[in-house]
Amino acid sequence: MSEHETLIAAARTARENAHAPYSNFRVGAAVRAKSGRIFSGCNVENATYGLTICAERVAIFKAISEGERGFDALAVFTGADRLTPPCGACRQIIWEFCGDAQIVLANLAGRVEIHRMSELFPLPFDSTHL
Ligand code: THU
Repeated sequence: MSEHETLIAAARTARENAHAPYSNFRVGAAVRAKSGRIFSGCNVENATYGLTICAERVAIFKAISEGERGFDALAVFTGADRLTPPCGACRQIIWEFCGDAQIVLANLAGRVEIHRMSELFPLPFDSTHL
């Protein structure tokens, strides 16, 4: 049983709530706080397309708005054969709140890959530049 099984399961369940009628690309995400609490999210699309929000940001913003701070891992779960990495906008947000966290990519076929944010998002602009 993988260390990340619970996190992956939360992302998989969240994916079932995806509102993705335009892309039909359903995504679930889950972020684990250092406290141990897990917050999940799904992508929420909009008829204007541009207002769509990714699953990763939904999960993080839910955690932040519940007062949680400090995260060590985030999972992204899709049905795609090729594992789905976070988009560029999400990488910026993940860096802001999770820093050099583990990023767990998983799919319905049971494939799992683990990356680190410093590998996915080198040379970030962040609060240390202000
Ligand atoms: N999407 C996510 O939710 N997370 C990702 O990591 C990649 C993309 C969503 C946005 C949109 O609803 C759909 O997937 C297609 O881009």
